[in-house]
Amino acid sequence: MLINIPKKFDLNESHVTDEPIYHERRRLLKQMGFLGAGALMSSAIANNAKAGFFSDDEAPFQTRTLTYSKDPFNQTLIKTPEKKVISHNNFYEFGSKKDQPAELAQSFKVEPWQLKISGECDHPITLDYDDLTKLFPLEERIYRLRCVEAWSMVIPWIGFSLASLLKKVAPNSRANYVAFETLYDPKQMPGQANRRLGGGIKYPYVEGLRIDEAMNPLTLMSVGLYGKTLPPQNGAPIRLVVPWKYGFKSIKSIVGIKLVEHKPSTTWKKLAPKEYGFYANVNPNHDHPRWSQASERRITSGGLFTRNRIATLPFNGYSEEVADLYRGMNLSKHF
Ligand code: MTE
Repeated sequence: MLINIPKKFDLNESHVTDEPIYHERRRLLKQMGFLGAGALMSSAIANNAKAGFFSDDEAPFQTRTLTYSKDPFNQTLIKTPEKKVISHNNFYEFGSKKDQPAELAQSFKVEPWQLKISGECDHPITLDYDDLTKLFPLEERIYRLRCVEAWSMVIPWIGFSLASLLKKVAPNSRANYVAFETLYDPKQMPGQANRRLGGGIKYPYVEGLRIDEAMNPLTLMSVGLYGKTLPPQNGAPIRLVVPWKYGFKSIKSIVGIKLVEHKPSTTWKKLAPKEYGFYANVNPNHDHPRWSQASERRITSGGLFTRNRIATLPFNGYSEEVADLYRGMNLSKHF
């Protein structure tokens, strides 16, 4: 049986996050009680999970090929190799270390799946698993993904614009924001069952956008990457991708989208409001309180010691498409 256990030469967090940031985050997590005994605990959980998840008669997660139109733009971006995209993940429901989601999510069940779109709209709908890839023509979008931890990738996503989905439900005049929710299923998601493994987050993971951000043509509902359906560690069966915002806005494994009147609460802002804002636009001029956001480490095909440090671009390089959304706003105040 094929088990996706990270090998020694695979990247881990300490290799892709600047070392001082890595150690500082570990120190803080330790202080908060999420490491140390927690690390032991999480490896015990990982072992149990492995033992249970990969019994002899259970196959690991299978992706399938998708039909889609190729991204006509972005031909000059060098893509991050697929192997790295699917083995270096942030998905705290499956553990807070970069290699844990690929390891612990392999028996995740995406069928049946229901995605409910409701709230301030005229025609609420519930999509099932097949609808996700059949309701709209699928297209490729090669986007930069910039994590707030100062690493980045270039990923060929496949999906459809969130705007086309929202138009289908006909938002009403009170729909000022869109709230998103990840599946809550502690039986399948070990990080939801164990506070330490799950990084201290109160689940379900929730996110939100302003309605004009949600309707922007760049905002993608992704159902695949690299030509296939999403693997569970990347947010199967459907996730959000907002390329001009820090990666934590791009919520995974979504079961609920609700049009709402007031600004919804968001997971990282609830956890550390001085560090993570609602807008979370990529901004090289507004540092994280504990590290600089002026540059980033681009994860490429290079080996362990490749240092691809590049300057971070305002709005992650998508200013032309989105800067108007924030005209007149103080981006340091509304970070
Ligand atoms: N969505 C959920 N439900 N849980 C998470 O922990 N992590 C976020 C985001 N979406 C996260 C999530 C963060 S911090 C990042 S950087 C991206 O997913 C990473 O996406 P990737 O693993 O596909 O690269």
